[in-house]
Amino acid sequence: MDAPRLPVFQTFIDQLRDIWAHESDTQTRMEKAMPFLSDLLKDEDLQTRSETWPSTEGRKNLLFYVDPDYGFAINGVVRIPGRRGSVHDHASAWVVYGVLTGTESLERYERIDDGTSTERADVKMTSVTIGSTGKVDIVAPWAIHAEQGGPTRSTAVILRSERMGDITQNQFDLETAAIRPGPGPTQIPFNL
Ligand SMILES: [Fe+2]
Repeated sequence: MDAPRLPVFQTFIDQLRDIWAHESDTQTRMEKAMPFLSDLLKDEDLQTRSETWPSTEGRKNLLFYVDPDYGFAINGVVRIPGRRGSVHDHASAWVVYGVLTGTESLERYERIDDGTSTERADVKMTSVTIGSTGKVDIVAPWAIHAEQGGPTRSTAVILRSERMGDITQNQFDLETAAIRPGPGPTQIPFNL
């Protein structure tokens, strides 16, 4: 039998289920979840446990939870020092990123072409936000962005409005301007 869920993680799930039960708008749900995720990230026991989480190199996510009723998913990412992430979107999903340990930066991009082509896109970076423990950031559907590692190993907890992996999302090649559709990160089930 699986070990019991970490109480602070169960509390977070209960908080999310309460939000989802009372709100029907996905953006509102995700925005209301942000302070609860930030609280979770400040839990020292969770921070300590993350030291033994396996690396997610190779476009993987730890899959901590998928809600059976509402479909939201909670993932973990473990980045090696200096990790460079691809520029991508998350298709139709809303995503809230939270930094648990180390530092990570979130780069946001915008298309500077007319936005009509599905094969190539000229994009430029519009902002970079550096986050450390407790920092949460929201990324809207189809928003173009990249997550970058910091100088040390870093870990993140991610709330997604839907489970990724099977949904086709886009990667943006900054050198050739090609848009590459493909599957999202491989989901690795992992009990918290
Ligand atoms: Fe992302």
